[in-house]
This record gives sequence, C-alpha cells and structure tokens, in this order.
Amino acid sequence: MEETMLRSRGWFGRSGKDGFIYRAWMKNQGIPAEDFDGKPVIGICNTWSELTPCNAHFRELADAVRRGVLEAGGFPVEFPVMSLGETLIKPTAMLYRNLVSMDVEESIRANPVDGVVLLCGCDKTTPALVMGACSVNLPSIVVSGGPMLTGRFKGKSIGTSDVWRFNEAYRKGELSQEEFIEAEASMCRSQGHCAVMGTASTMACMVESLGLSLPGNAAIPAADSRRKVMARLSGRRIVDMVREDLKLSDVLTREAFENAIMANAAIGGSTNFVLHLLAIAGRIGVDLKLDDFDPISSRIPLVANLQPSGAYFMEDMYYAGGLPAVMKELTGFLHAGCITVNGKTVGQNAEKAECYNRDVIATVEKPFNPQSGIWILKGNLCEHGAVIKPSAATPALMQHRGKAVVFEDIEDYKARVDLPDLDVDENSILVLKNVGPKGYPGMPEVGNMSLPKKLLQKGVTDMVRISDGRMSGTGFGTVVLHVSPEAAEGGALAVVRDGDYITLDVPNRVLRLEVSDEELEARRKAWQTRVSYADRGYVHLYQQHVEQAHLGADLDFLKGSSGSSVVRDSH
Ligand code: FES
Repeated sequence: MEETMLRSRGWFGRSGKDGFIYRAWMKNQGIPAEDFDGKPVIGICNTWSELTPCNAHFRELADAVRRGVLEAGGFPVEFPVMSLGETLIKPTAMLYRNLVSMDVEESIRANPVDGVVLLCGCDKTTPALVMGACSVNLPSIVVSGGPMLTGRFKGKSIGTSDVWRFNEAYRKGELSQEEFIEAEASMCRSQGHCAVMGTASTMACMVESLGLSLPGNAAIPAADSRRKVMARLSGRRIVDMVREDLKLSDVLTREAFENAIMANAAIGGSTNFVLHLLAIAGRIGVDLKLDDFDPISSRIPLVANLQPSGAYFMEDMYYAGGLPAVMKELTGFLHAGCITVNGKTVGQNAEKAECYNRDVIATVEKPFNPQSGIWILKGNLCEHGAVIKPSAATPALMQHRGKAVVFEDIEDYKARVDLPDLDVDENSILVLKNVGPKGYPGMPEVGNMSLPKKLLQKGVTDMVRISDGRMSGTGFGTVVLHVSPEAAEGGALAVVRDGDYITLDVPNRVLRLEVSDEELEARRKAWQTRVSYADRGYVHLYQQHVEQAHLGADLDFLKGSSGSSVVRDSH
C-alpha cells in the first residue's frame, strides 16, 4: 500500500488547523515530527487489567509488540479496552463479551490506525477482540498471552480442571481446609491463563488455526521468554500486513472456519468454542451454522492428550510441538491453501512442524481418543440444538434414559441439591433451567453442576446433566449444554417436570423429552416466565437483543461489519 493511501493520513497527513491539532496533541507524549511521516500506525489493543489476572502481564507484552512495530518502520499506539477476567467478574464474563466487542470496534474505527494487534488472553477477551476487529476489517493480528506454567500439588501436576476435583474431595471430606488453600497457591504459580485446554487455550488455538496469529502462538507459556519474541515478531509482521493490505476478511474465509472446527476437534477444545466461532463468523459475514460443526469435526479424532479430556497441560503441548504439530497431523483434512497472517498458507506453516512427544500429541492413525469434537443434539427438548463434548463424557452414559430432577433456576439448584430427601439417584437426569443467554442473563458456566452430595458419598462420579447454560472449558462430565430455545424463551426445557423421562442418545444425536406433543402444548400454554428483565443499562440492551445460543449469542444489531470509514468527519 502506498504511504499516501494509509488510513491514518486522514488524520496525521492533513494540512491546516486539523492536521495541526491531530499532530500537536500527540507530540505532548514526546513524539518527534518525523514519526507522523507516512508510517503505518499500529494500534495495540490491550486488555491489561489487574482485575484480569490472566492478562496482568500484558504491559510487558505490549512493550514487546511496540518494539517490533518500531523495528519494521511502523508507529505504535497502545490503547485500552474493557477487560474480562473470568474469575472475578460477576455475574459472568460472557454477559460482557458483546459489550467489549463494541468497545473494540468503535475504538478502532474512530482512531487513526492502519492495523491492529489484539492482545488476548482470558477466555472472553479473545472472541470479544476478534469480533470487534472483524466489524471494522483492518489488517489485524492476534497475540495471545499464553498459559500459566503447570501447577504442582502433592507431587502431582495440576491445572484448573482440578478445581472441580478438589471441590468434590473437599465436600466429601477427603481434603482439609488447609490442603484446599495450599492447592490454590500450587495451581496458579505463574503469569498466564488457565493451563489446561479450557476456553482460553481453546481460543488461542482457534485464532491460530483460523490463521489470525503467527504459527506457534497458542501454546508458548506466558512466563517463557519466547512469548515476548512471539509478540515482537507479531509487531513486525503487522506493519507488513498493512503494506500488503492483508485484511481480516482475506484470512477469515469459510474454509478457515472449517479448519478451526477440525483443529478444535483434534485438541478437545471447549464447548464455548461453538458460541464464539459462530459469533465471529456472523461479524465477518461467513455463513456458518451450528449444524455445520458435527459433519466437519466428526471425521477428526482427538490427538491432543490434554486436560480436561486427557492428562497433560499446555506447557507439555508447547514442548511437544504446539499447535503446528497438531495441524501437521491434520494435513489430510485441512484446507491447506488458506492464507494466514504471516502471508503463508496453512499447509506451508504446518510443513516444517514436528512432534516431539507422542504421549501428548498422538497421530491421527493412533489417536488418543477416536471420539472428539463437539456434537450437536436435536430433538423435542432442543428444537434448535444443544451441544455435548463426547471426549469429556462418560462412555456408559452416552445412551441413557432417566427420570428428570428439575431445578427451576440456579438458586433453586443451590437450595435443594444437597438436601438428604431429594428424590435422586445415579440414573436420574439433572435438569437446570433459566441459565441461558436471556434467562440468567449472560449464560453462566454452571451447566456441569456438582452432583448431589449423597450421590458423591456413594461414589457416583458422573450423571447426565442438561441445561441452557454453558460449562467452563475446564469442566467435564456427560453434560448437555446450550439447549436452544432456552427456558426463558419458552422452549420445551421450560416445561420439563420432575419425573419426566428423558432419552439421551449421543451416537444418534438425539435429546428427547418423553412427553406427548399434546401434553407439551398444554404445558406451554400454562407456562409463565420466571425471568426478570432489566429496565435500564447494558443488561436491558443485552436482554432485548441477545440471540439464542445456536446463533452464537451475539447482539442482533452487531452482526456484520460497518467497515473502517468514519461516517461523519466534522474536522
Ligand atoms: Fe482466565 Fe481461566 S480464568 S483463562
């Protein structure tokens, strides 16, 4: 791209009063005049926050990007956007994913940037930044923050998935309060995001497999010096991307999305992947539907042996060759010709990759688990679909018929789940309503609800659980999620009653409530929502406009792109 064509010249290249103002106030930061001289201006979109512990090292990372941009002849400008720390934010970070995406979109479009580096880490920060950037469609590259180093507790490797195990051991009295506290410190022992194949790692792999980051970006631990090298190289590369005018829409084709779905199956990625990928596709204008996931991923076995589906951690995956080694394994399946942000194709990037540990990254021929991916269920209980992650489920429960034990909302569940007289046994199916996008609102990660205490004490480790909510990417179990339409919208889930029989048949992709159509219709007529709707503020906007889970839970008016032009330029 010619320097005179740079978008930022619409600010810094102007003459007269306007150019004076645009440049003069920037100069109060000690910037020499020649830095405005036709250089690509690179925005570094930072989600640093001490309230997002997974992203708390991002100032250092931004510095590394800045150096790379300068080395390549660009002009870096860092700007903050709202950050989403999965562990602290209430009621759930997912409520704000779409809000952050608006912040990102408007911040990029309104300012004099030619290209953007997106600094992403904790779960929702990645899809939020990519969604927002897609709605502007400038050259953009993702730098992930990297996973924490593997935790160690009582001589064993641990990660976030162990929180669920520690909690159940604590509830059963097998772990003391002191041990519980010690485990906390042992698990989070370095900067970075969750070290298992939870949602943050899934998102880092998603952007790499889509072609939005340099190869190898996903798995380098946050504490490893090579993470800063990755940031620096990305800073260099974005300057060239601006010169080449390599935009997000050039990378994010339908084939790129299919590659990401296949890669996610191979790594045993989080169920949240479905929601975020659908939302990103909606922003960039690629036709992707929930029903596409199953056929694209069902041929792909699970090759990565990572928690929560397997045994290892992201640090191990990096030492074993990282995502490039997984992509190489998938060569026969992937669309190898897709262009990525480094200007090379998916096939070229995978060519030189090597696997150094087959316990961690297996082969397609001898996979870690032949069952992988995220499977889509249909039936009268989920007319628009529901999802299950078979690699995290118990094989014996994949075909199961049981009596429903119904909780009307999360408060009802908390109040009654451990009551000694709750009518439940290991064959029951736990049903949780009103935790969907509108119902909660924000669709919290409560779908893998803890089992009733009396069953835990009997040694029961898994039960079929069904809800319109989500599950943490670190969670596991035979858990049916994202039931659509959600209970708050009057879907069949809303009228399930205690004692109704439900059939889950995962191999045949069926989720059926064994109640006649007539009875269902009668129950629906008598149904009244329990959900309260906010009358002001962002939550009001969200509840009025959020779409159902099978569409990605974006706000309806945010779909698509408005491009990078500023509509009214009053200066
Ligand atoms: Fe941030 Fe898990 S809490 S990635």
